Order: sequence, then structure tokens, then C-alpha cells
Amino acid sequence: MTTRTATMPPRPSPTRRAGRLLLILLAGVIALVMLLVLGLVGLAATVYARADTSTVGKLGFANRLKIPPLLSPRTDASGRKVFDLRLQAGTSELLPGRPTSTWGANGAYLGPTLRASRGDRVTVNVANGLPQATTIHWHGMHLPARADGGPHHMIAPGATWSPSWTVDQPAATLWYHPHPHGSTEDHVYRGVSGMFLLDDPEAGALPLPERYGVDDIPLVVQDKHFDRQGRLDFADGAFHPIGRLGGATLVNGTYDPHLDVASQRVRFRLLNASTARAFEIGFGDGRAFDLIGSDGGLLDAPRRVTRVPLSPGERAEVVATFRPGERPVLRSFPPHLGTNALEDRFAGGDDSFDLLQVRAAAALAPSPAVPERLVRHQRLDPGAVSRTRTFALDGFSTINGREMDMGRVDQTVTAGSTEIWEVRNQSGNPHSFHVHDVQFKVVDYAGGPRPPTLDGWKDTVFVPPGGHARLLVRFGDDADPAVPYMFHCHLLRHEDNGMMGQFVVAAPGQAPAQPHRH
Ligand code: C2O
Ligand code: CU
Ligand code: CU
Repeated sequence: MTTRTATMPPRPSPTRRAGRLLLILLAGVIALVMLLVLGLVGLAATVYARADTSTVGKLGFANRLKIPPLLSPRTDASGRKVFDLRLQAGTSELLPGRPTSTWGANGAYLGPTLRASRGDRVTVNVANGLPQATTIHWHGMHLPARADGGPHHMIAPGATWSPSWTVDQPAATLWYHPHPHGSTEDHVYRGVSGMFLLDDPEAGALPLPERYGVDDIPLVVQDKHFDRQGRLDFADGAFHPIGRLGGATLVNGTYDPHLDVASQRVRFRLLNASTARAFEIGFGDGRAFDLIGSDGGLLDAPRRVTRVPLSPGERAEVVATFRPGERPVLRSFPPHLGTNALEDRFAGGDDSFDLLQVRAAAALAPSPAVPERLVRHQRLDPGAVSRTRTFALDGFSTINGREMDMGRVDQTVTAGSTEIWEVRNQSGNPHSFHVHDVQFKVVDYAGGPRPPTLDGWKDTVFVPPGGHARLLVRFGDDADPAVPYMFHCHLLRHEDNGMMGQFVVAAPGQAPAQPHRH
């Protein structure tokens, strides 16, 4: 027997020691996991909390709104109007005092406004002074496919592209922008865009405000993401499934803008030239105004509204009435994206922006009332529909299960035919469906009431997740089986990802030619 063991403190057996060690280890691991989870939840909460943005009430409206200059055309010997556009890289102070490199047309950021009338024969010389190949597409214009400026019409650096066509459609607010496959988001974001206004005698005879830059004001609305130095930020926006969203807005390239007006009524031509962000535009004081036009021209009659939804690529014309001396703010309210609360947050659905302060002079020149009837619309005959096609938008990059292929014609349409194009959004993301060359009517929308902006001619239509739109389209009479037009999502990252397809307009019985793969 030994007495030593009795006097020694009891020593735990090796297994008990190991057990305690294991317990301590386990507790440590649990604590660590809990910390990690807490951290992740915290991070998620911060990311969520930071995902919405608002400039409402935070701006001083210090800067006078820039008005894109009207580009005067030359008239050539044959009576054709010739416009010269030069795409160029430069430096802009998008944020005052903070130079950043940008692209533009005939300037460092954005481009001039082109203007032509129905019946005009036009040529635009597009000289590419940019360091990259690009294209210029005439969004909303009815024109021959070879003049359309889609991804098949690449202009190499240093080269000039000179499409010609005859303007043959009603007065409208159209626009132009680059369309190189895979880089459209980038080229538009850098700043190449401008308006292309069309006039016609019927619209010109109406007593609507029509002095460009005075009481007829173009508003190119864009969001931008700036880094700490105030430079354009190209960071990828990992939490934005629809593309890059910025926390600041520019109107005509002007940050924090105001506009002085001196007449009672002012017409605004709104263009959403953002790459991904949808706006919901109205006045901060909730006043009603007259919606008079959509993508493809004036409505048949004005609609009295307080908000106008505008997804990327869409346009709206409105007439607002002001009282002497007042300073109402044009604002974008949280848009109705139709996604779930989480998706909405990361797609800009909770965001709001003060866009522009209107400063009415102490004395305002009287303006005629907005007429009760505007223009007659050519009736599209639903009885003439020869075919219904379905376009299923899936995920972020496909239509009918296929990604864009420059060498594949997806649809062949007969010149002069009338069709129903049914667009179904089968993804959880919002999309904005655009068709080149045509203006259509939305005959059925998302299963619910369609917004009044969809009463008129459209070339781009927002389709919420799970929603659909049935478009009544009459195709033009020019056939060209060799050069395709595009249909695509106008959320430009989706377009670049491949959510785009090609259609050709062929004579009856004519087969499409194989387009070149560039
Ligand atoms: Cu505004 Cu195919 O584009
Ligand atoms: Cu287009
Ligand atoms: Cu999309």
C-alpha cells in the first residue's frame, strides 16, 4: 500500500482530462460559430440596410440644368439632312470639382440632340474617336435593318459609319446609344447617349409647349455610382442582380440640378438612360400633371397622372403646370418592381431620388391649356394577326432558353405582317423588353391594370417577375433577310449577358440569310 496517493490531490484520469478538454474545445467552437453567425447576420443586416439609397431632401439644387445642344444638320445637294456625330473620350466634372474620365458624342459626356421631321431623308456620319469599337443604335426608329446600328454594325476606332434612311413615323422622343454585343452597359455607362426628336405636322399643330430648352425640356435621367474621388465607379455591384445601381442621379449630365422656367406650362421629355435602374417619376408635392406621350409619340389624349414609371430605355412626355415663384421638386419615388421584399431591396425598389428642382419665375407667361385630344393613332387590327410568338425571359441571360448568338436568326417575320408577341417573365428579376424597328401596342399587361404610360406607342415595356405582356406589332414593309434586328432586355447587363435575340423581316416566302458571326 502506498500512502502517497492519499496525500496527493486526486488526479483526473487521462480519459476525464481528455473529456474536459473536448468540452472546452466544443464550447470554443460553439462560441466561434455563434460569433461567425452573428457576424454574418450583422453583415447581412448592414448590407441590407445599405442597399437602399435616397437623395430626397439632401440636395441643394445648386447647378443649372444643362440642355443638350441641338445639332444642326447640313443639307446636301440631294436635299438630305446630314448630321455629324463624333464619339470621343474626355474628362467631365460630373460631380463639380471632381474630374472623371467619360465618353460622349461631340463632347465629353452625353451627346447633342438630333431632330428631324417625318419625310426627311437623313444621314448621320458617326465617327468613332473612342479607343474601342462600338456601334450607335437609333432606339425607337423605324428604319432599314442595315441602318439600325445594332451589334452587327461595329465601327472600328478611327472609322466612320454613315447610315441613311427616310423618317417615316409619328413625332416622338427617341434616343441613340451604343450597342456592341457584350459591352453595351459599359459604353452607355461611360456616357454615350443622346436624344433624337421627331416632328410631324399633326403634332406640330397642337398647342403644346415646343420651344426646345425653354418650355420643351429634354431630361436624360441616369443614376451613377461614384467612388471616393468622385470618379465613375465601375465596381461590379455584387449584390445587384440587375446590374450596377448608383446612389446619385444626373439629369442631362448635371448633378444636383435646377431649372428656371418662365411659362405656366412646361413639357418634359423624360428618358431613362440608366443601365439598370427603374424610376417612378412625379413631383415631391404629389401634384398631378398631364402624360401626353410615350416611347413612340403622343397619346391619343392626355392622361392625368401623379407618377410615371420609367424602366431603362423608356420615354414619357409630360406637361406640368406651375404657379409663379414656386419651387417644386421632380422626384423619383420607390418603383414598383413586383419582386419580393429582398429582391426589391437589391434591385432599387426601395430607392428614391430628388431629380430636379423647378424654379418658376415671379411672373409666368400664360400657356394654352393641354388639348383634350392629341393625335390619331393608326389602328392595328387584332383580326389581322397572322401569328403569335412567345418570348420567355429566364434568369439573367436567356430568352426561350437560349443566349444571344450573333450567327443565329431566332425569328423570321414577314414584312407588313401583324403579330402578337407574348413576353413572359419566368424569372425572379424584373426585365424591360425592347424590340427594334417597331412601335407596338400593349394589349394585355401582367394580368392587372396597365399603367397609363402603356396606352400609347411603345418600343420598350417593363415586365415584372411572373408577369407577362402581349404586344400587338405591325412590322414594316422593307424586307432584308440578311441583316437582323434585335429584341432584348434593356437592363443592359442582362442584354450583355445574352438576354437578346435576332429577328429578320423577310418578304413573304423568303428565307433568312445566315448573318455574319463577328
Ligand atoms: Cu435601346 Cu437594342 O436598344
Ligand atoms: Cu432599340
Ligand atoms: Cu433583364
